[in-house]
Amino acid sequence: MAEPRSFDVVLYPDPVLRKETEDVETFDDGLRAIVDGMLERMFESRGVGLAAPQVGLSMRLFVLNDEGDREKPERNMALVNPTIKSLDGKKVRLEEGCLSLPGVHADITRPERCTVHAFDAEGNEFEREFDGFVARIIQHEYDHLQGVLLTDRMTPSDKMRNRAAVEELQDAYRQRKASATDA
Ligand code: CO
Repeated sequence: MAEPRSFDVVLYPDPVLRKETEDVETFDDGLRAIVDGMLERMFESRGVGLAAPQVGLSMRLFVLNDEGDREKPERNMALVNPTIKSLDGKKVRLEEGCLSLPGVHADITRPERCTVHAFDAEGNEFEREFDGFVARIIQHEYDHLQGVLLTDRMTPSDKMRNRAAVEELQDAYRQRKASATDA
């Protein structure tokens, strides 16, 4: 078995978060090392979901654990090459955060259920309906695979409320870029 890869979380507004993602072609130890490394990073960062672009990989893949609890590996899921087939149920508004947007919180309205076709890390194909919090995480992570971020889904009042935090992230990114080119 391959060692889990070691990842940092890519922060907004790094362009890799907007880059087009590609289907995973092979289900091998390399993929499992990515999935295990992403789960590890997610738990370390106290998240409940993490998408490949958030660790700098332009792949159609995300992981989740709706309790964010590494002691409950039975709640770990990896969705590879996912497609949301349908969104159903009433629309629910709930506050979301994102590991790539620390300090940003926004009320996002999403349907309470979704049906997803995907593969697991072993390459087993499945189609399943999810509801509640898991369905919410799936829709958030699925957005990442399309390059869509919380900042794109915010209401005007949430945009105002989060303006300072978003600007701080933009400034920090510019500073990192500048010091990287200095070196
Ligand atoms: Co996110």
